[in-house]
Amino acid sequence: MAATRNSNFDDSFYQPADAFFAANSKVGLTYDDITLATLYSDILPRNTQLDTQLADGLQLNIPAISADMDTVTESRMAIAMALNGGLGLIHYNMPERDQLSQVSRVKYHVQGLIQDPIKVLPDQLIGDVLELIEQKRFGFSTFPVVDSKGKLVGLLSGHVVKPRYAAKKVIEALTPRKQVHTITKKELGKDPIARADKFFTEHLGIHKLLVVDDDDHLHGLITMSDVERITQERKAQFKPARDAQFRLVCGAAVSATRNAFGELDKKRILEHVGGLVERGVDVVAVSTAHGHSKGVGDTVKVLRDAFPKLPIIAGNVTSAAGVEYLADCGANAIKVGQGPGSICTTRIVAGVGIPQMTALYVCSRAAAKKKVAILADGGITKSGDIVKALTLSSAVICGGMFAGCTEAPGEVMEIGGKIYKQYRGMGSLAAMKAGSAARYGHEKADATRKLAAEGIEALKESVGSIDRVLAQLIGGIQSGMGYLGAKNLEELRQKARYIRVSPAGQREAAPHDVVELKTGN
Ligand code: XMP
Repeated sequence: MAATRNSNFDDSFYQPADAFFAANSKVGLTYDDITLATLYSDILPRNTQLDTQLADGLQLNIPAISADMDTVTESRMAIAMALNGGLGLIHYNMPERDQLSQVSRVKYHVQGLIQDPIKVLPDQLIGDVLELIEQKRFGFSTFPVVDSKGKLVGLLSGHVVKPRYAAKKVIEALTPRKQVHTITKKELGKDPIARADKFFTEHLGIHKLLVVDDDDHLHGLITMSDVERITQERKAQFKPARDAQFRLVCGAAVSATRNAFGELDKKRILEHVGGLVERGVDVVAVSTAHGHSKGVGDTVKVLRDAFPKLPIIAGNVTSAAGVEYLADCGANAIKVGQGPGSICTTRIVAGVGIPQMTALYVCSRAAAKKKVAILADGGITKSGDIVKALTLSSAVICGGMFAGCTEAPGEVMEIGGKIYKQYRGMGSLAAMKAGSAARYGHEKADATRKLAAEGIEALKESVGSIDRVLAQLIGGIQSGMGYLGAKNLEELRQKARYIRVSPAGQREAAPHDVVELKTGN
C-alpha cells in the first residue's frame, strides 16, 4: 500500500502550488522553468476527462480556446473548435455587422448539412455544368436544380453529366421533383444527422437528401458520406461543445470602445453586444492588453447590468488585484497573460508583463476566492505547456499553435517549397490599423501620435487541419494527467507538484545528442 502514497521525502523536493510559488516568489517563472512530478496512478490517459466549466451555462468538453485574433479565429475556426469540444472567440477587427454574421454562421452551422449547395438552373446546358466542374475543380457532379426563385425543380444526377450529353439542357436530363427525396427543415429536428442517418438506412441506394422549406425552396443538402463520417466521429471521446438548443457554442470579442470625446461609448457597446446576443453568442470577451483598467471594468459592469446571465470573459491581467477587480465588475472568466504571446513585444516595448506560470499562480488564488475561472492566454508552444497551465487554470487560449491551421483566416504563401500562413499580433501596426488599436489604448484614427506597436507580423508553417493539431494536444494533456494520476482537471489542479528546472535540465527535456530523423509529430 505504501507505494500508492506520497513519500515525505518527495514532498521536500516536489512541492504543491502554494509552497512552491511562495518559495519562488522573487522570480517570475514560465512554462519551461518548471516541470511536474509524476505521482502514483491507476488512471489510463485515454480514460481522463477534460470537460471544464467557464461560467454558468458555458461548459466545454476540452479546455482549449482559439484566440480572438484576426489571423486565428473567424467562423470557420470557431466551428472547428466547437466541433472538437472547445471554443472559438471571433475577433473584432472587422465591421460589427460582419462579426454578427460570423457568429450566425457558427450558431446555424448544422454539421453535415451543406447550407448553400451548388445549384444549376433548368435552362443551362449539360456542357455548361461540365465547364463549371472543370473550372471550380468540383469533386462531385450531382446538383440540385432550382428555378430563379430558388424553388426545387429536380436533381441533376452525376450519371447524366457526361460530355456525350453536353448539348442537352438540364431540364431534359434531370430527375423530376416528384422523384427526388426531400425532407423539411422542421422534420430534421434537433439532431439532423441522426434523422438523416435513419433516412439513408430506410432508402436503399439513395446517397443525397435535399432539405426544403414549406414552400419547396431549397435550404440544403445532406450526403450519406458526410453522415457516415460524422456518425463515426460521434463515437469519439470528446463531443462537440453545444448550447442548450444543440447549436455549436461560439464566443466573440468586443472592445472597450470610446467615443470622439474619449469617453466609453456605452450605447455602441450595448448595441453591439445586444446584436451578438440576438444571434445566440454564448460568451463575449472584453479583450484588451490591460484589463485592470477603468475602461475595461466599466465595460464589464455595463454588460453585466444589461445582460445578467451572459457569460463574460475579460482581460488581460497578471495580478490578483486585476482578477479581483474584473470579478467584482461582473466577469466570469479572466484572461491571464501579458506579454507571453509568440507575436507579442509588450515586454520589450513597454517593459511590463509577468512570466506565465507565476502570473497564473497569483491570479488563480484570487480567482478561487472570487469563484471565477482563469484562462491561460499566450505562450503555449507544446502540449506539455498546456498540462502545466491547466494545473492553475480552467482552459488555455492559443494563437500561434492554431494560426498555421487550414481553418485560420490569413494569407497562405509558398516560400522555398514550404507553405506558410500569415500570423500577426493584434498589437502589430497592421492589425491596429485594421481596428484593434483600442485594445492597446490607442485610437486608430489618431493621426497626431504614432502608434507604438506591441506585436509583430509573422508567418507560421502550415500544419493542416485543426482536428489533427487538437488531437495531438489532447493526447499530450491526457498523457500528462495519466502521469499525475488525475482523472479530471479538478484532480490535476489538486495533485500537481512542481520543481524548478535548471538550464541543463531544460536541455535534457528536449531531444539531444542525436540526429533527429522525424519530429514527435
Ligand atoms: P500565442 O503565444 O498563442 O499568444 O501566439 C496569443 C495571445 O497573445 C496575445 N496577443 C498579443 N499580445 N501584442 C501582445 O503583447 C500583440 O500584438 C498581441 N496579439 C495577441 C493575446 O492575448 C493572444 O491570445
